[in-house]
Amino acid sequence: MGQNIRLDRFLTDMGKGTRSQIKEAAKSGRIQVNGQTVKKTDQKIDPQKDAVLLDGREVSYHIWEYFLLNKPQGVVSATRDDKCRTVIDLLEGEGRKDLFPVGRLDKDTEGLLLLTNDGSLAHRLLSPKRHVDKQYYAQISSSLPPDAPKRLSEGITLADGTRLLPARLEILGMKQMPEGGLSGEDNWVTEILLTIQEGKFHQVKRMISALGGTVVFLKRLSMGPLKLDETLAPGQYRRLTGEEIARLKV
Ligand code: URA
Repeated sequence: MGQNIRLDRFLTDMGKGTRSQIKEAAKSGRIQVNGQTVKKTDQKIDPQKDAVLLDGREVSYHIWEYFLLNKPQGVVSATRDDKCRTVIDLLEGEGRKDLFPVGRLDKDTEGLLLLTNDGSLAHRLLSPKRHVDKQYYAQISSSLPPDAPKRLSEGITLADGTRLLPARLEILGMKQMPEGGLSGEDNWVTEILLTIQEGKFHQVKRMISALGGTVVFLKRLSMGPLKLDETLAPGQYRRLTGEEIARLKV
């Protein structure tokens, strides 16, 4: 079933450089195919069968790639940005060059972000019709009204008139933050879990604001069946397991 492609296309698709960089690499003898050093990059190879080495390291071929990133604060959910580090920069050249984040987290939001080049999966996860659950942990610099869970479960209307789908709010309790940390009254924050079915701009922050609170920390814990891997520190990532991919595709 193998489909042959040009060697330079194979290596650029895998994010190993531009076509001219690949040409230079070949000229200087850094590329081998099935044990033979190759100098010409227009030759065709079978990505499923041929062993391609760049600088002695095998380049494996994936058509679809899926990475789970624990997004840290301070990076933007974009493929490129003139001023700021992006979530794609965090992969440091690993993976295909056509990876993109599935949806956006704000610059100051942490947590689960799926990076893939599988456009149809991304489309399904983000489609407003599908109501894919996204769960967030948040700290709020005030208490919330006692009827907040009920109001959110019925669907609230934001300040600009946007009507939202029902959401699930669980108030975990209050927590005292260290001196000089996140500021709230007396340094106390309310900890919550909020599960929403949509992904509107600043949605969690705007929902909490509609209830009279301010989000001072926000972290996404899950998206559909995909859970944040708590062994990943902010900024770390790993490939999804086969099982995670299968569960996302059902
Ligand atoms: N809601 C927000 O307000 N910000 C995010 O980053 C994600 C959801």
